[in-house]
Amino acid sequence: MTEYVLASEASAHTRSHAIKLHGPDGFEGMRRAGRLAAEVLDALVPHVVPGVTTGELDDMVREHMLRGGGIPATLGYRGFTHSCCISLNHVVCHGIPGDRALKDGDIANIDVTVIVDGWHGDTSRMFLVGDVGIKSKRLVDVTYECLMLGIEQAKPGNTMGDVAHAIQSYAEKHRYGVVRDFCGHGLGQLFHDAPEVVHAGRPGTGPELKPGMFFTIEPMINIGKPGVKMLDDGWTAVTRDRTLSAQFEHSIGITEDGCEIFTKSLKGLDRPPY
Ligand code: MF3
Ligand code: CO
Ligand code: CO
Repeated sequence: MTEYVLASEASAHTRSHAIKLHGPDGFEGMRRAGRLAAEVLDALVPHVVPGVTTGELDDMVREHMLRGGGIPATLGYRGFTHSCCISLNHVVCHGIPGDRALKDGDIANIDVTVIVDGWHGDTSRMFLVGDVGIKSKRLVDVTYECLMLGIEQAKPGNTMGDVAHAIQSYAEKHRYGVVRDFCGHGLGQLFHDAPEVVHAGRPGTGPELKPGMFFTIEPMINIGKPGVKMLDDGWTAVTRDRTLSAQFEHSIGITEDGCEIFTKSLKGLDRPPY
């Protein structure tokens, strides 16, 4: 059985199997963290062009977060030493920024998580580098639509399975594969908390959604099969069949009648073309 606990009565910095239900101060904290995370991605738009290295983009992410009064949550997280993840082309997630320069035709996921006053804003978007082919663009569009269809199901009374099913059925209608090896997650004063947010599943299954739950939805969608392989660096996950992969992520909070998206772009830059 799923257990729920009022966040005010739980230990804020301990992960447990119970799902925290947050109050108004939690929503206020997540709004501020989510807003800064979205602004960081907004600020990258003019810089994600052929020739820039992923390491340079990582520096911009860190500087923008610090200037905005936040701290990069990934810096030092389980040994990760960068301020964001940048996942190119067949990289599914957790790509490590470095010397690689972006090339015309690349697709890039940039995933940022910032801590503001103890609250986590976690969001990612796809960027199209220069002239991108129609197949890549279509994958990016469908992946964004998968995220938003999942978010549409995020309301009290529905279950995690309803969210998952909306994502999976839309992706598979386009003959794409939904990654199973990585999930969304609860978050708040912790980066990764209960529950696990799967992106493939059956309607009516899994934990019921209740007001005050905070979690991410972050589907990874492959042109080919769902399988992934880890590279030797211990972080980078790539598609097993080397097909392209895309991902978008928002942090949301369940309200009385639906959900609030904490990481929406105030500039309307949630999806390409930017
Ligand atoms: N931001 C990622 C997520 O959506 C987690 C990255 S952890 C890192 O959960 F260590 F790889 F950066
Ligand atoms: Co996340
Ligand atoms: Co993320």
